[in-house]
Formats: sequence, structure tokens, C-alpha cells
Amino acid sequence: MRSTRIKDKNPMGTAWKMLLRYMGMNAPSQSLRVKMYRWAGIKIGDPFVFGSHIFMDVMFPNISIGDDVILAGYDYVLSHSNVLWGYKAGEGGIKPVVIKNGARISINVTILPGVTIGENAVIGAGAVVTKDIPDNCLAVGVPAKPVKFLKPITA
Ligand SMILES: CC(C)(COP(=O)(O)OP(=O)(O)OC[C@H]1O[C@@H](n2cnc3c(N)ncnc32)[C@H](O)[C@@H]1OP(=O)(O)O)[C@@H](O)C(=O)NCCC(=O)NCCS
Repeated sequence: MRSTRIKDKNPMGTAWKMLLRYMGMNAPSQSLRVKMYRWAGIKIGDPFVFGSHIFMDVMFPNISIGDDVILAGYDYVLSHSNVLWGYKAGEGGIKPVVIKNGARISINVTILPGVTIGENAVIGAGAVVTKDIPDNCLAVGVPAKPVKFLKPITA
């Protein structure tokens, strides 16, 4: 089983990505956190809130985040599952994550590989999102389940 581990071909590249993640999680301003993660290869539009202690999967930065998104903080956005190496043929469960425009991710949410969060969808605190969430949908729990569709308030 150990022979199937990913070989680190570029340890300096890995160290650089780890440093960028550290800064992306801990930098004191939102713009710095976003900049660090962009440098690590994550696609991030113009977020409304990009909180601290957000763990992004910089080793497989196949993550795309739209505009006006809220990521409250202490969230995990994961694009690989190397826990499956040796159990599933030909892959480490590397799958892209998409967070569409206006989506709001509450505190302490885990988004698993392959998930798309729809436009203006809301994910409740503490959820683990295992499947796609439709636009404008509130989803909560572990695993996250849609509980209702939300209508924006118009003035
Ligand atoms: C999702 C949230 C916004 C609540 O939305 P809401 O529209 O008021 O939802 P409701 O209270 O109508 O809840 C609907 C159902 O989901 C449940 N629910 C709500 N939030 C939940 C959560 N985080 N986890 C599990 N279940 C939750 C409620 O208990 C309710 O269940 P019921 O119908 O069986 O009673 C809120 O719970 C939440 O998670 N807030 C985020 C807090 C946060 O991260 N703050 C920092 C933001 S910057």
C-alpha cells in the first residue's frame, strides 16, 4: 500500500504551497488571504467575505470560487481524497470543487471533492457537503441536505 503514495517531485513547490496556505489561513486581512490562495492556484473572484482559517486544498488547487461569495471562516474546501489511494483504481479521488456566485458558506463547513455549490445557495454552520447543492437552496447537516429554497428580499 505504501508504494502507492504520491511521490513529492518538487519538495520546494510543496513547501511554497504550504507557506501560501498558512498565510491564506492566517493573514490579518481578507485581501491578503485571498491573494495568497490565488498565488497557490485557487481561482477566486471578488468575494464578499473570505474569513480566516479557511483550509483550501492547495496541493490540488482545482477549486473555483465566484463573486460575492461568503466563506465565513474555519471552512475546509477539499479537492482530493488520498485516503482512497490503494482502494480505488487509478485515482486519489481528485475532483474539482465549484462555489458559484453569491453562495454563502457558514462557519465550520467541509466541502468534499467534486461538489458544486449553486448560486446564492446557503450552507448552514457545521455542515459536511458531499453532493451538489442547487441554486438558492439552504442545506444543513452532516451530510448536508437541502431543507428549503430561499427567496431574496426585494426592497
Ligand atoms: C443556516 C442558518 C442561517 C439558519 O437559517 P434559517 O433560515 O434561520 O433556518 P431555520 O432556522 O429555518 O432552519 C431550518 C431547519 O434547519 C435546521 N438547521 C438550521 N441551521 C442548521 C445547522 N447549522 N445545522 C443543522 N441544522 C440546522 C433547523 O433546526 C431547522 O430544522 P427543523 O425544520 O427540523 O426545525 C443558521 O442556522 C446558520 O448556520 N447560520 C450561520 C452562522 C454562521 O456561520 N455565522 C457566521 C457567518 S459570517
